[in-house]
Amino acid sequence: MREKIDEIIEFLKSELAEDCSYYSGKVFGSMSSYPDDDVVRVFAEFIEKNAGDANIFAGTAKIENKVINLLGTFFNNPTAGGNCVSGGSEANVVGLWAARNFFKEKKNLPFLNEEYEIIVPETRHTSIAKAADLLNLKLVEVPVNNDFEVEAKIVEEKISEKTIAIVGIAGNTVYGSIDNIEDLSIIALNNNCWLHVDAAFGGFAIPFLKNPPKFDFILEGVKSLVADPHKNLGSPIPNGCILFRDLDYSKHIIHHLPYFSGKKTENRTIIGTKSGAAIIATYYILNFKGIDWLKKRMKSAFENKDYLKQRLEELGFEVLGKAQLNVLAAKPPDNIRKRRNELFKKGWRIGKYGDLWRFVVMPTIRRENINELISVLEENF
Ligand SMILES: Cc1ncc(COP(=O)(O)O)c(C=O)c1O
Repeated sequence: MREKIDEIIEFLKSELAEDCSYYSGKVFGSMSSYPDDDVVRVFAEFIEKNAGDANIFAGTAKIENKVINLLGTFFNNPTAGGNCVSGGSEANVVGLWAARNFFKEKKNLPFLNEEYEIIVPETRHTSIAKAADLLNLKLVEVPVNNDFEVEAKIVEEKISEKTIAIVGIAGNTVYGSIDNIEDLSIIALNNNCWLHVDAAFGGFAIPFLKNPPKFDFILEGVKSLVADPHKNLGSPIPNGCILFRDLDYSKHIIHHLPYFSGKKTENRTIIGTKSGAAIIATYYILNFKGIDWLKKRMKSAFENKDYLKQRLEELGFEVLGKAQLNVLAAKPPDNIRKRRNELFKKGWRIGKYGDLWRFVVMPTIRRENINELISVLEENF
């Protein structure tokens, strides 16, 4: 059987041959990467755990709570509540679902559901638009400035009695920009509005900038926050987190799972069955590898981002925005733009957004990967 499975694995590898691999160092178009070997070991050890069933996996459920407590403290609110979910998309939907139900519970509703609005920067991640679609809400998109940050004043002008929530992005998917969450928090408080922060990418990066802006629960207006361990923290996929200032903010999305083999279980997420192994791996990273490890990891990512920026600019790329986080949005010069397909065929994966190329410098990217990329871009000059 052993030989057979080895054979089958080789066959599966051949079936997967067209996949790229994060291990190749050629992937600059993704906000995920490979976990460290010790994290893989933890993940594999606990592969059977279903964090969706606290009756069978009571220990796993406790570890999920510990992750939320650790993250609450990390994001300046040790009493935050929340859940580990499948990723940033689900976390955004759950946060805005809670906001909608909280709003509807509090107010008499003179309007139809679909007339209610969420106000978001036009550069929001697709999952915010999915949330509006699923929750039957109107998406009110607000333009961003030259640094790809939303202006709080413009957001405030859009607030009305139909506004369910405003959304700020702390670590934009394409530009890496960070909205002024401090200003958004003030207008949220002044207008009695829910502020949801999408820090799926930036949550584990912004705290390690030289002068980090405030973006988390230290700001009173922030009611919910998304941060994804399976991005910069290096957890295995699938792992995102949705945190609420207080667990009570999510009480209107509770559904009970009556079929479980014990006490009935409260569920505040979209999925039921979920990967306990990913959550335990996140706990391992936060609790045992620790924040100093993360700080070193992000320092290296930021240094490599600065190095890539300099090398791209030498080749004639125009890098846009403040380029603070480990994402670069850059306009390629014409001679390089034309070579996109060729780069793709050679296994390089670089994001594309209209005319822009997007380079995500994940902490697993090494200096030699950047040098190799630059030498490929330089070919045929
Ligand atoms: C800002 C932001 N929010 C949400 C998401 C969605 O995360 P996921 O792909 O884990 O669902 C992303 C993904 O890149 C993101 O950049």
